[in-house]
Amino acid sequence: METSAEADLRLRDMTAEDLAASHALSIEAQWPHRPEDWDLMFGVGFGVVAERAGKIVGTTMAWPYGADAATLGMVIVSQACRGQGVGRKLMDAVMARLGERTILLNATPDGTPLYRKLGYEPVGSIHQHQGAAFSVPIPRLRKGERVRPLGASDAAAVIDLDRRATGLERPELMTAVLKSGQGVILDRGGEAVGFALFRRFGRGYAVGPVVSPDRDGAKALISHWLGSNAGMFLRVDTPGDSGLSAWLEEMGLKEVDRVTTMVRGNAPARGDGAAPYAIVSQAFG
Ligand SMILES: CC(C)(COP(=O)(O)OP(=O)(O)OC[C@H]1O[C@@H](n2cnc3c(N)ncnc32)[C@H](O)[C@@H]1OP(=O)(O)O)[C@@H](O)C(=O)NCCC(=O)NCCS
Repeated sequence: METSAEADLRLRDMTAEDLAASHALSIEAQWPHRPEDWDLMFGVGFGVVAERAGKIVGTTMAWPYGADAATLGMVIVSQACRGQGVGRKLMDAVMARLGERTILLNATPDGTPLYRKLGYEPVGSIHQHQGAAFSVPIPRLRKGERVRPLGASDAAAVIDLDRRATGLERPELMTAVLKSGQGVILDRGGEAVGFALFRRFGRGYAVGPVVSPDRDGAKALISHWLGSNAGMFLRVDTPGDSGLSAWLEEMGLKEVDRVTTMVRGNAPARGDGAAPYAIVSQAFG
């Protein structure tokens, strides 16, 4: 028999009018997103909300990339309504809309048991580093290499590098993210082989995504933003296998949290010569 709480629950597509109430939920969960961060996420994806007595008590969002993949995130249920199956229903609804796509997500410890039950497997981790850097050594660059400002004509190269590094086809997202900040390119003999973006996010600024052929290149790219923003609050979300955590700690960006990357379906195949050293955000991957 349905309890009155269950009968009262309504799931529906998220609209732009729901963003303020959704933002209030992420504040309650002590997540740092600003209204502008929700706007960007909604602009390139879609969401499902759970309502009880006309009040939004839960959210989930997803971002389809190409025909076969998607990321899923912003899975939040208000504290008073947790443990009553709302999260499960939101996940079922958003996954039904994604069909047979491979789905990637970054799971908090709260979310991991639910995702495991839904068939997601852990494949990696994301280390969240943040803080202020005060003294940044001059990066070691190789012969023929330089870090230069990213211009409008670099957009296609950035989208291609992101695709090779992540295996995800997401020109729409990358175009929106490029518009939301500034960037630098790792240039080798006139060819763009890596990039790092710098954008407003949450409490301060985020360095990411960062794509590079190797760790030294990633350090050179990130050093550019740390050095030119000494003393400012910056955040870098780096994959556990990037090997950058110890260096970021040395720079003054402490690891404050760690989430588990999980996948349902076949993980996207990555290309050669480019790897992710910082993600766009935990939601976008
Ligand atoms: C994660 C979250 C959305 C779950 O929402 P919820 O409404 O409480 O989840 P549900 O009640 O639908 O529980 C889902 C399933 O996970 C199980 N589960 C939940 N927490 C669990 C735990 N700590 N240990 C074991 N199982 C757990 C439930 O038993 C349920 O299983 P069932 O469907 O087989 O009965 C909620 O805790 C939340 O908003 N947390 C804060 C934000 C967050 O971290 N979100 C995750 C981002 S990745």
